[in-house]
Amino acid sequence: MHNKAMSVTIAGVEMKNPVTTASGTFGSGKEFGEFIDLNQLGAITVKGVASIPWKGNDTPRIAETYGGMLNSVGLQNPGAEYFIQNDIPFLRQYDTKIIVNICGHTIEEYCEVAEKLADADIDLLELNISCPNVTAGGITFGTEPKMAEKVVSEVKKYTKQPLIVKLTPNVTDITEIAKAAVCGGADALSLINTLQGMRIDIHNKKTILANKIGGFSGPAIKPVALRMVYQTAKAVDVPIIGMGGISNGEDAIEFIMAGATAVAIGTANFFNPMATIETIDGIQKYMQQYHIDNIDDIRGIID
Ligand code: FUM
Repeated sequence: MHNKAMSVTIAGVEMKNPVTTASGTFGSGKEFGEFIDLNQLGAITVKGVASIPWKGNDTPRIAETYGGMLNSVGLQNPGAEYFIQNDIPFLRQYDTKIIVNICGHTIEEYCEVAEKLADADIDLLELNISCPNVTAGGITFGTEPKMAEKVVSEVKKYTKQPLIVKLTPNVTDITEIAKAAVCGGADALSLINTLQGMRIDIHNKKTILANKIGGFSGPAIKPVALRMVYQTAKAVDVPIIGMGGISNGEDAIEFIMAGATAVAIGTANFFNPMATIETIDGIQKYMQQYHIDNIDDIRGIID
């Protein structure tokens, strides 16, 4: 297989292979760097970064569930200055692209963080208008097309890097939000963020998550995510980073055949720290098995 067989391009940024991490499941890569060679990843997508530090939601904020997990972290993060000083120098030691997920409570806060990162040495921004765990910002911007378009077009005024917009599945028709984001200037889309869910501790008669409701992710949501990537790829003309329950190369190939240019590994990182590397190897093995010279040849092949 030639060198470029697995390389993909997202909004002009070339990744050596289509595999990145889903924001919030990989930190900034420091802990995972002890288990895997970060140089092998196409890109690292980091936990959401806000203009100033956020303390996140009360605990418990993680719960296991059948086929996946719930989280209600609430976008805890140390803020843009800390990220720029500490995490970018760490990430830049590696031969991988850096995707920075950004969050805000208001349009102004989204613009502020985009502006703070404008001259930072990063490759792509991912605008998080889909977090289900905050009462302002996040999903509140991502469920209404006009609002989605507005926040994207405002943030675009401050970005110097290409902008990926991360979509929520908690809508009736994700293609309406996708089209609105593209109208606002999205250079690429990523989907899906988590599905809203909850669990109840029947012995203590209360919800397991302090926030009551959280975001459901993991292998159980894969068919929903795949369906939404497929529908979105048919509806818009920008590259898509597909995610939602991807745990191995075969899952990744499904998303690429549905129309994704790249894929992100999320919850699988928690039960298998090697999941990203095994996914890259799995894609390569599949391509060898079926004599596929270039990953582009199978993208979006499902009618
Ligand atoms: O609560 C959280 O930090 C989750 C973020 C997200 O789903 O985007």
